[in-house]
Amino acid sequence: MARTPSSQKSTKTKGTAKTKGAANIVARRRSRSLPRLETPAFLSSAATGEIASALTTLLADSFALYLKTKNFHWHVSGPHFRDYHLMFDEQAAEIFAMTDPLAERARKIGGTTLRSVGHIGRLQRLPDNDADYVEPADMLAELLDDNTRLAAFMRQTHDLCDDHDDVATESLLEEFIDQTEKRIWFLFEASRGMQSSGR
Ligand SMILES: [Fe+2]
Repeated sequence: MARTPSSQKSTKTKGTAKTKGAANIVARRRSRSLPRLETPAFLSSAATGEIASALTTLLADSFALYLKTKNFHWHVSGPHFRDYHLMFDEQAAEIFAMTDPLAERARKIGGTTLRSVGHIGRLQRLPDNDADYVEPADMLAELLDDNTRLAAFMRQTHDLCDDHDDVATESLLEEFIDQTEKRIWFLFEASRGMQSSGR
């Protein structure tokens, strides 16, 4: 019987040890019961579920309002074109800036959030406006109404967070409520004295 050269023996032994080591790592990973999307928990699982769900619905409303505000920015016309075009763009940017903090707050507390445009459509409470033409006065009135509703939804979520002592989400929402109330103020002033369906 031919003898195995000592160099080959050594390689074989090392290879086997390496394979066993990798298998152990995989086995250890598989034995973990933690779901892959779990994050450090600061709240009870009930609070996490309720708050993440409320934040995700607010996020869907924010994306819907962002796109409507951009829609009006792109399609506004008339003698106040420049004022409204610029105001809608500023407001859209402010609304878009809320989206990442809302989504990341839902993840930070251990929940999940939006996955797709279809998911937004299923959750949004603020309606789209796909009309071919909208009078500038009607754009202002519609955005005023949508922002007022968004502020009310944020206050409801703030109350929910208060019930669960989630002060960080409350603080985030307080800033967003203030910004939304500023948008409401600007839209209200811009539409003062205007007739619906007029310019
Ligand atoms: Fe633009």
